[in-house]
Amino acid sequence: MEALLGEMESYALEHYIPILREKERHAFCRIVEEAKPHRILEIGTAIGYSALLMAMFGAEDVEVVSLERKEDRAAKAKEFICRSPYRDHITVMTGDAAELLRMLQGPFDVVFIDAAKGQYVRYFRRILPMLSARAVVLADNVLFRGYVCSDVKPPRRYKTIVKRLREYLDLVRHTPGFATELLEDGDGMAVSGRLG
Ligand SMILES: C[S@@+](CC[C@H](N)C(=O)[O-])C[C@H]1O[C@@H](n2cnc3c(N)ncnc32)[C@H](O)[C@@H]1O
Repeated sequence: MEALLGEMESYALEHYIPILREKERHAFCRIVEEAKPHRILEIGTAIGYSALLMAMFGAEDVEVVSLERKEDRAAKAKEFICRSPYRDHITVMTGDAAELLRMLQGPFDVVFIDAAKGQYVRYFRRILPMLSARAVVLADNVLFRGYVCSDVKPPRRYKTIVKRLREYLDLVRHTPGFATELLEDGDGMAVSGRLG
């Protein structure tokens, strides 16, 4: 698996495709390993890198459903996944996440939100009824270049994203029955666990 993951990292670098940062990888894998999920939902597949990592650290019978809007990326993800021992455990669905989410049914033990940053609030509201009793929701890039939790004014082009990510953090922190931890390495990852 390390050779395949290394090849994916090189491919992502070469084609300017954002995937989980090295700095985030250790904590990310540890959280998934501790949750030992049977069913995982990922919003934002790219080339399947984090989907494979989650499959590696999930339960033996893990099932990952991953959503990707771009057809070329979804196709590349399927190619890489087919070369792994997890080919029968991961399903990549192509289309807009908001549409695809309507077709899915829970329960999910882990959800990784890593797609359109302006949509995180919408995604969280949609997945909430599909979460299992001990579910963990991870959301990447929630600090967005340091603007989300600082007083520094973001450039105009980022204003909406920053506002929406602040709304996301506010939402998860105030949703009853959840505790949220913020991992500050990389671009910031919110980890919201359902309280047992
Ligand atoms: C940061 S990348 C995902 C990286 C991946 N999770 C990983 O770490 O290996 C975000 C992906 O979300 C996809 N995306 C963005 N908006 C989306 C949407 N509305 N529906 C589905 N996918 C979307 C992008 O095309 C992109 O490939």
